[in-house]
Amino acid sequence: MIILGIESSCDETAAAVYCENQGMLSNVLYSQVELHKHYGGVVPEIASRSHIEKIPHIIAEALEGVRITLQDIDAIAVTNGPGLPGSLLVGLCFAKSLAYALNKPLIGVNHIEGHIFSACIEHDIPFPFICLTASGGHTALFHVTDYGAYTCIGTTADDAAGEAFDKVAKSLNLGYPGGPLIEQLAHEGNYRDYRHYPRLRRRDTNFSFSGIKTAVLYDMIKREEYDKEKKLFTSPHTRAPIEIASSLLVAMGDILADRITTALQHYPAKALTFVGGVACNKYLRARLKSVADSHDIIYAHPSAQYCTDNGAMIAFVGNYKALQGKYDPLTLDIFTSSHSSKQHVS
Ligand code: KG4
Ligand code: ZN
Repeated sequence: MIILGIESSCDETAAAVYCENQGMLSNVLYSQVELHKHYGGVVPEIASRSHIEKIPHIIAEALEGVRITLQDIDAIAVTNGPGLPGSLLVGLCFAKSLAYALNKPLIGVNHIEGHIFSACIEHDIPFPFICLTASGGHTALFHVTDYGAYTCIGTTADDAAGEAFDKVAKSLNLGYPGGPLIEQLAHEGNYRDYRHYPRLRRRDTNFSFSGIKTAVLYDMIKREEYDKEKKLFTSPHTRAPIEIASSLLVAMGDILADRITTALQHYPAKALTFVGGVACNKYLRARLKSVADSHDIIYAHPSAQYCTDNGAMIAFVGNYKALQGKYDPLTLDIFTSSHSSKQHVS
């Protein structure tokens, strides 16, 4: 079984080829981050235009690199939601056209499901497991009992974890995306908690990041050395951005660890996985591993190429869906909200 996976839900145009016997053969990605940097976030219209330009080349590269032709493909898996409507439509329309022209089956894949199983590409993870998926667009906890069988046990009431990093980084005038830049500054601050931002511990498994984001912004604004207009600390030798970034990251680590600990008290789990763009963060990885260690369960995260949006996770999910005979008609549509009923597949 050879599956072509296509992903275009946000600002990455990606394609991958997965072979059941040989594993992931290729994983090609074009990131639009340079196009959106100037705006401090993803501009939907720019994103869909760029997908249109890049998608044929990215797919060709994913196939050519491993000497596979379109005829060798057994099925075409494509993200059909959630995501930006224009971006999703580019990938889905391209995948449908290929499926129609080649007379190959089509498989719609939920983007979040792709992330949930992304750690399984490189690791043998026993079921059931708890998965924290955290990126710029979503943050949620899942209880996963089998391939394609998972239940959402916690979501965010407001911002996603990556979004909180991005917004604070924007206020500090660091650039976009904010997560890696906050991590770099936090490293300079030795991951110390200088500011003690509120954690809002709670007894359930849901998240809310707007409180901590606001606390950080107030903390900045009240300082005389902070110029609100220019979004700059006026004193050149200030350590404020380092201390803010370090304190934010430590607080975020505590919040994530707190909700996972609660989840582990309520749901049986043999492993904990950490996936999505935020899972690139080495401090948070170590923090979550210590939670897993203290519960004597396996911990795993995907390598960086499978943390951020990618075609490999879509091809991987496409493969087990094909084995389960779960194909979709050419009338398949996109869905944009993560609250869609398609999120819970079992
Ligand atoms: O999965 P992804 O590439 O795209 C979305 O679906 O959003 O995730 C991007 C998000 C951004 O918010 C970015 O700031 C965050 O992941 N991110 C990080 C790190 N690298 C990326 N957050 C914290 N630490 C990092 N090292
Ligand atoms: Zn994503």
